[in-house]
Amino acid sequence: MLIDTHTHLDSHKFDSDRVEVIERARAAGVYKLINIGFNRETIQTTMALAEQYDFIYAVVGWHPVDSIVMLPEDLEWIGSLCAHNKVVGIGEIGLDYHWDTSPKDVQQRVFRQQIQLAQQKRKPIVIHNRDAHEDIVRILREENAKDVGGVMHCFSGSWETAKQCLDMNFYISFGGPVTFKNARIPKEVLSRVPLDRLLIETDAPYLAPHPHRGKRNESAFVRLVAETAAEITGKTLEEITRITTENALKCFSIE
Ligand code: NI
Repeated sequence: MLIDTHTHLDSHKFDSDRVEVIERARAAGVYKLINIGFNRETIQTTMALAEQYDFIYAVVGWHPVDSIVMLPEDLEWIGSLCAHNKVVGIGEIGLDYHWDTSPKDVQQRVFRQQIQLAQQKRKPIVIHNRDAHEDIVRILREENAKDVGGVMHCFSGSWETAKQCLDMNFYISFGGPVTFKNARIPKEVLSRVPLDRLLIETDAPYLAPHPHRGKRNESAFVRLVAETAAEITGKTLEEITRITTENALKCFSIE
């Protein structure tokens, strides 16, 4: 009874075999999936999946790399989708200083606007952070994101950063990279995260876990992340499954 808390099954990478990919996830014990729509196209395809499958939920938001093209009506649209019964959060939002497609000041404005929207709509936020730890933590603090909390998606930062996020009511989510042999810091951070704040995800089709590294990722592989989390924490796979599933249901207020 696993939950993949962050996947992109609507991606074109699954166009030839999406139904099989979803079936394989179910066969691997993934009983709920949270699909993330992050721009005009993928919000629509995410909503379509959430309407088609009762076990797929939607998180919708505007990705930082696309900040420059977000229009006021896009923000209104995201806000209006929050009334949909399958929309469980706003994301992925945040800052991405790796790709320079959107200037930092625009990214920060769009990030703040969406935190404020989440506060109005009382939805948790799913945070994308690439090479921007300090500004992410500062903006979350300045905007009182603690009110809504949410998920630090595919966390790759230090324990110090993790601790600051935990203090603001965030869950720390780990994906494929924590399974890599050389992932010393992510493994150490995972070992220190309180179990009641731990989440697992795939970010499929990206970031496939060991031994699929470099290949297309899929939601069935969240089981490999769970196995790694069990090893690191000294828990059984069953315990980690139960704990992370309870956390996901609570974080996203899913019945
Ligand atoms: Ni993602």
